[in-house]
Amino acid sequence: MGKIRVTDRAGKQVEVLAIAGSPVMYSLRNIDNGVDAICGGLCSCGTCHVYIAHDWASRLPPPAEDEVELLEELENTREGSRLSCQIRFTEELDGLELEVAPEE
Ligand code: FES
Repeated sequence: MGKIRVTDRAGKQVEVLAIAGSPVMYSLRNIDNGVDAICGGLCSCGTCHVYIAHDWASRLPPPAEDEVELLEELENTREGSRLSCQIRFTEELDGLELEVAPEE
């Protein structure tokens, strides 16, 4: 178990719990102004898009090809863009900072 520091879609900062081994998206879809995650984590909707804070981005495993391809289809990508359903939380990620991207 660990925590993720989130700036939600309304700009509010909240901390959410995360379970090691679970996709980060699971911790973000049940909060107000979190991610929609319409496809449920199948890497096909892009509605779990987040911006990983600069200091944390390099500590994540790189995105797989299907994540990269879907990110390329989104309009609001920028440095740190990732799909939160494709990031598995680990104890090393305790304190991870991210921002929920705007709705596409
Ligand atoms: S939940 Fe659909 S791409 Fe992540």
